[in-house]
Amino acid sequence: MDVIHVEGNGPLQGEVTIQGSKNAVLPILAATILIEGVCCLKNCPHISDVECMLNLLESVGCRICRDKDSLKVDASNLKETRLPKELVSSMRSSIILLAPLLSRCKEATLNYPGGCVIGERPIDIHLYLLKKLGAVFTSEEDFLKGRLKDFSGTTVHLTFPSVGATENGILAGVLAKGRTVLMNCAKEPEVRQLCQFLNSAGAKIDGIGTECLTIEGVERLYPVTYTIEADRIVAGTYLFSAVATRGRIGILNAPIADMEAAIAVARQMGCRIFEGSNCLEVWQPDRPTAVKKVKTMVYPGFPTDLQSVLLTTLSVSKGESVVEETIFSNRFKIVEELSRMGADIKTEGNCAYICGKNNLHAASLLAEDLRGGAALVLAGICAHGESFIGNSHFIERGYEDICRDFRMLGATIEKMR
Ligand code: EPZ
Repeated sequence: MDVIHVEGNGPLQGEVTIQGSKNAVLPILAATILIEGVCCLKNCPHISDVECMLNLLESVGCRICRDKDSLKVDASNLKETRLPKELVSSMRSSIILLAPLLSRCKEATLNYPGGCVIGERPIDIHLYLLKKLGAVFTSEEDFLKGRLKDFSGTTVHLTFPSVGATENGILAGVLAKGRTVLMNCAKEPEVRQLCQFLNSAGAKIDGIGTECLTIEGVERLYPVTYTIEADRIVAGTYLFSAVATRGRIGILNAPIADMEAAIAVARQMGCRIFEGSNCLEVWQPDRPTAVKKVKTMVYPGFPTDLQSVLLTTLSVSKGESVVEETIFSNRFKIVEELSRMGADIKTEGNCAYICGKNNLHAASLLAEDLRGGAALVLAGICAHGESFIGNSHFIERGYEDICRDFRMLGATIEKMR
């Protein structure tokens, strides 16, 4: 069954270890296409989006070997440049394969990834950037076909610091002829990790962590072993779970340096946080205090991927809040479900207005996207009574086992069989 059953039973307590980052491993898996030989990736999360990416890599000829949290990808012999429609449609971030396929095979064909429940998800910045570097695209029905002689470096200014478009630009530049300069690019930790992976394979990328990346094209890249860092959004999910339930937890292997904005908001809500070398001791002694306003921003601002979990937390906080979503056009889907649990939330345009309640009541709920689904599970843990969250497959796209993790923190929760 695709349903999670949860029973609200008070403050979370215990320790949880954070999995490898979904949004770091996906572009790095795409990058292995650029490398003839066997790359080894460690600390890879067991999530359905990784399975989908592995199926995409196998569809073009990569050979995959998985041993627990390690993945070996052999991209020596690529044989196909057309990506299977059903895989691309199921995971929009398949678009990240465009540049590496073009760079290695000089052509690539995929259906338009299309929009999803959180927004339109256009790819105009990706295409603008890759055209500037030499690619030519044609549309055939709902298929996009790219062709290339060679990527030639140039300076490209991104109209918006799109994470995926930045990643495609990097993947195009590393083997391009000459120098590529990406201006106004994304600075998310996942972009940093992609650059670090590529540089360890012989790429020459400067300006890592800034909004201007300079890439000197090289002749070839070499197989490497790389360890994926912990997932900052999964860690942030459990951070706010402690805040919402007035719990006391340890978050082990937390990527603290990449979580500053989330930690700052949790502290404003009355959370006491001790930062260890790579663990967070989190204690919410009293009912959280609402923050007046939180605006989602590109990194290092408050991450849009924690916005849903923040809505749940503010729903049970003391006072009124406004959350402004500036990244996606439709990321308040859980408001309706939270309202059915007694939350006092109204939305107007890209703002949600929350008046915190002392508690929520249990309900049968439906997840509609990955992060919204996780936020509904948290709402069920906060609520009095038994809740059911359907469409739990959305959550499995990015969380290895959210029931396992929350049980480690003392929750009464199970995936129904
Ligand atoms: C990445 O998506 C993440 N996914 C998202 O995480 C995350 O929410 C997002 O970055 C923002 O941080 C992965 O890394 C796999 P964008 P991406 O391109 O690259 C608009 C999750 O839950 N845009 O930075 O698709 C776009 O519509 C997921 O883990 C264009 O207009 O995000 C959006 O409004 C959800 N044209 C904004 O930019 C383009 O060509 C940010 O998108 C590209 C994007």
